[in-house]
Amino acid sequence: MPLGECVHSRQNHAETTSAVASTTNTAATTLARRGIISLMEQQQQILEIDGSDWQVAQPNEAWISALETGKVLYFPRLTFELLPGERRFLTPEVRDRKVRNISLDEHGHLKGALGDAEQQLELALMIGRFRAQTQELIHSLLPRYVGALRLAPTSYRPMQVETRAQSWRADDRRLHVDAFPSRPDHGERILRVFTNINPDGVPRVWRIGEPFETVARQFLPRAKPYARWQARLLAALHVTKSLRSEYDHLMLQLHDGMKADLDYQQDAEQISMPFPPGSVWVCFSDQTSHAVMSGQYMLEQTFHLPPAQQYDPASSPLAILTRLVGRPLV
Ligand code: SIN
Ligand code: FE
Repeated sequence: MPLGECVHSRQNHAETTSAVASTTNTAATTLARRGIISLMEQQQQILEIDGSDWQVAQPNEAWISALETGKVLYFPRLTFELLPGERRFLTPEVRDRKVRNISLDEHGHLKGALGDAEQQLELALMIGRFRAQTQELIHSLLPRYVGALRLAPTSYRPMQVETRAQSWRADDRRLHVDAFPSRPDHGERILRVFTNINPDGVPRVWRIGEPFETVARQFLPRAKPYARWQARLLAALHVTKSLRSEYDHLMLQLHDGMKADLDYQQDAEQISMPFPPGSVWVCFSDQTSHAVMSGQYMLEQTFHLPPAQQYDPASSPLAILTRLVGRPLV
């Protein structure tokens, strides 16, 4: 069936998935259990799109606007097929112990993998095939982005999420929006395509939180002020790859503020979503509040996009923060 014949959003999702991820027994799921439709459900943070073809037949305004307003596009029947010989890569042993994920960089170089040259080539081909399919998906879904997207590395994540030991700041099991301390992006968007390739039916369970503006209104008042001299120093010491702008500073403050606040983690409006093997989901991860609770074996492709190239630049985190703060941030 081509994409577009059956589209519906996941109403009552908190209700149906709360049993799967009992660790996220949140205010939202409690409300849903009592039959009270929560704000989150009305706002429908996940848009489900049927179809099993990486080439979307027709761009759809409603999907584009959902994505650009921070929702997750979920394709339950879109599958990345492994070749029989590739199943041997479904073990954490393929990865160099020094790294968390294996990545294929923009130039096609594989990083973080163990094994002989032949095995590494085969793994690079597998990850590269996923990359090509995500490009097909994004180009057909969002034709205006073609030519404006900048390809970032593709990552293969063979580690089990539940057993990862991390500092609170690096712990993606806490709700956050993506912002990276060493890589200022000056408002450039982070668009990500994910697929679960677990061979044993194990879902990748995410929590998805409140809309970006709600998050920003809560954490901006607590943000430390930006100091340009500090940003200059960090760049001079090569702690950051370029000058950290006030936008980058505020995004990090939101990221850290959310992760450090355990009450927020528990009480913020949120849903739990188990993405099954054989499905794909897409979001702007600098905008969508998200956390990964469990799962193993995922492929992820990142694209960067200047916010001016969006269908609606006013929906970008840069535009929202600029409006809330009332001055230019880059
Ligand atoms: C994240 O982007 O925070 C982690 C996503 C995942 O590993 O599922
Ligand atoms: Fe993240």
